[in-house]
Amino acid sequence: MPKDSGSSSSAQLTRRTLLGAVGLSAVGIASATAASAHEHHDGRAGSGRPRSGLSFYGRNQAGIATAPQAHLQFAAVDTKVTSRSALIKLMRDLTLAAAALTAALPVGQTGAVNGPPDLAPEDSGEALDLPAAGLTITFGFGPALFSSPGKGDRFGLADRQPPGLRQFPSFKGDALVAGRIGGDICIQACADDAQIAMHAVRNLMRVAGSRARVRWTQTGFNRAAALQQVTTTPRNLFGFRDGTNNIITSDQAAMDEFVWAKAADGASWMVGGSYLAVRQIRMLIKDWDDSVLEEQEDVFGRKKSTGAPLSGGIEFTKPDFAKLAPSGKPVIDPKSHVALAHPEQNGGVRILRRAFNYANSDDAKGAADVGLFFMSYQRDLDRQFVALQRQLSENDLLNEYIQHTASAAFATPPGTTPGGYIGETLLA
Ligand code: HEM
Repeated sequence: MPKDSGSSSSAQLTRRTLLGAVGLSAVGIASATAASAHEHHDGRAGSGRPRSGLSFYGRNQAGIATAPQAHLQFAAVDTKVTSRSALIKLMRDLTLAAAALTAALPVGQTGAVNGPPDLAPEDSGEALDLPAAGLTITFGFGPALFSSPGKGDRFGLADRQPPGLRQFPSFKGDALVAGRIGGDICIQACADDAQIAMHAVRNLMRVAGSRARVRWTQTGFNRAAALQQVTTTPRNLFGFRDGTNNIITSDQAAMDEFVWAKAADGASWMVGGSYLAVRQIRMLIKDWDDSVLEEQEDVFGRKKSTGAPLSGGIEFTKPDFAKLAPSGKPVIDPKSHVALAHPEQNGGVRILRRAFNYANSDDAKGAADVGLFFMSYQRDLDRQFVALQRQLSENDLLNEYIQHTASAAFATPPGTTPGGYIGETLLA
């Protein structure tokens, strides 16, 4: 699996210096990033060295195997274009702008401050003087782009719709909020700085202009990049280490087996891409915070302190689901989150989780709206995410403390090379 690249030369340059020094525009950045060196990551936030520029180009889109950055800006977008050629132009423009942004360049030919004074600047400017901060921009295509009851086969793509790419079935306990489901295209912008991630989505939407409209958005966060000396597995807002038994993205065999789509999975244009499951999961933190430690640990099947399985050992010890307590009951409750989600209990199924914590303003009743913005990448949504989520939604002890409020599925196509665009294997 090719890894994302970290550009050592552009790394130290800010948006303004790079543009000024070499006169590069969005068009010219391709060669700057294509020459990037490779960076290794292990899939856990906070465990990498500080990042600057990661290459936008490559066999796979960046932002999937990339170790999670500190901030997420996610947008599910509907496109207003009506022809295949207009959709191609939109994806070309978004690709060019995304490549510029990830190289710490402003969007457009004149950027934020070099255009005519009597025109609105092409770039909004809040990322001037800032480095790329590990910005990755990942695009995905939702099922409605291929066919939808209201809009039919708008772009002549229905026969290319991957078999598993459809709106998720409803799961037990779903509390989905109208307006926070699906989307034609998703933009996952992640960076080690919130302003840079926001700037990316804001300016991509300006590039799209009247050709696209935001359907719903969400921000998310992980441990600050400045805390990189802390190398333990990050904790979620329930206070548990989250990511212990995630796929390690440098494990190419696991990435090939579970994450990167193959032609045999039903859509040859998706080779080198992956399928994204998005679920916003609200945490009922008042109830959780009042629950006793023993209950909290039983819910997950792991120790809150170390993340070790309740069957013993250290964080990375394999859980022993057969181990019995003196009472004769399994030490790890079969309905605990880990017992239900572990591959041993699921015919070997694994997913690459790339979740972020989120914290919105309190809701209208004054209750906290915080939780996990769950995202996972996999080869096959039905066999992996849907199978797991069905199992969890029916049985997970965690369900008492969570509510799924937003949901979407996307096909994230393979990456592209300079001069190409994201989606070319589908749309060309
Ligand atoms: C708010 C919701 C959730 C929370 C707080 C949460 C938290 C956790 C924690 C603490 C672990 C144990 C440590 C680890 O291996 O990462 C874990 C494991 C896992 N979770 Fe979740 N999770 C949530 C939702 C989900 C969902 C929706 C799925 C998939 C449908 C999922 C799939 C998994 C998987 C596959 C594992 C690894 C199990 C193993 O191999 O041991 N989780 N989760």
